[in-house]
Amino acid sequence: MSFSIIGTGMYVPPRIVTNDELSRFVDTSDEWIRQRVGVERRHVCTDETATDLACKAAVRALENSGCDPKELDIIIAATVSGDMACPSVSCMVQRRIGAECFAFDINAACAAFVFMLETAAGFFERGRARKALLVGAEQMSKIVNWEDRGTCVIFGDGAGAVVLEAGEGYIDSVLTTKGGDEVIKIPHFIGKSPFSTQKPQEPYICMEGQETFKYAVNAMCSDIRRLLEGNGLTLDDIALIVPHQANKRIIDLAAARLRIPADKFYVNIQDYGNTSSASIPIALDELNRSGRLKRGDLIILTAFGGGLSNASCIIKW
Ligand code: COA
Repeated sequence: MSFSIIGTGMYVPPRIVTNDELSRFVDTSDEWIRQRVGVERRHVCTDETATDLACKAAVRALENSGCDPKELDIIIAATVSGDMACPSVSCMVQRRIGAECFAFDINAACAAFVFMLETAAGFFERGRARKALLVGAEQMSKIVNWEDRGTCVIFGDGAGAVVLEAGEGYIDSVLTTKGGDEVIKIPHFIGKSPFSTQKPQEPYICMEGQETFKYAVNAMCSDIRRLLEGNGLTLDDIALIVPHQANKRIIDLAAARLRIPADKFYVNIQDYGNTSSASIPIALDELNRSGRLKRGDLIILTAFGGGLSNASCIIKW
């Protein structure tokens, strides 16, 4: 027994920052960002926190599913930009939405949504859960260096959530880690220990753009091939591919290499930028509410990010 997704929700803060507005304080342009990344605007927090975004997305997913918070057996959240190391975002969500189940966070950066699904699958398999809430919530604007044009133009804030119910909708997954901090890192504060000899590092996202780009394209192509071959499927069996929204050119290049028509990939990066762990559940919520997904459709979710990690899965809608 695995699970099916029975509800989705998302929330982005109302403040929109366009590329033109960014170009007023960083040396960049609307044309460069559209062409090289595909982002047109992003939403950023002003007085909201990552927990606020998470709770709003969670409430919407619960309403969409018709599930009462008290029915939940687990809450799992993922973030690299939460408000506190402890309590976790999931614990704060549990209290604010009025749930009573246990809750914990995972960290798999931008690939976290698929890692959350895989983690939840274990609880369903063992009969420990009938209903679960998963939330990806990010306040990336807090951990972006707004003077670094190589990163600040890419990211955005937002949260996405799904409600799972015991079912047969989780078909297969592939998960990969290539550990190391050379390509992407977000250093933590180092504290004030009088014994430490470590040099403080700035707690901002630091990324080798081109290395990330290559890793992402290779990871997406290899994951999609492995999932199709491993399950005796062809692309014709797949209704839609929902990729992590990191760079439109990454998605286009993967599509070209796999000889998949670009419109088989869902793209919304133009509106939100890269919202890390929230990007796939936000996309799922848009698809769900627009009626584009039909019950029984096979969908591939594919994500990659810091770790380095990549993870992809096939779900039946
Ligand atoms: N505006 C204008 N020019 C910029 C710029 C910006 N925001 N950022 C970089 N440039 C410049 C560079 O300085 C460089 O100039 P130069 O040729 O005079 O030295 C030129 O554009 C090309 O830089 P480069 O770093 O080669 O650009 P790129 O095409 O690789 O694009 C990224 C940079 C970051 C957009 C791209 O590498 C990328 O998206 N990588 C993947 C990132 C990702 O997916 N991260 C999330 C992981 S989950």
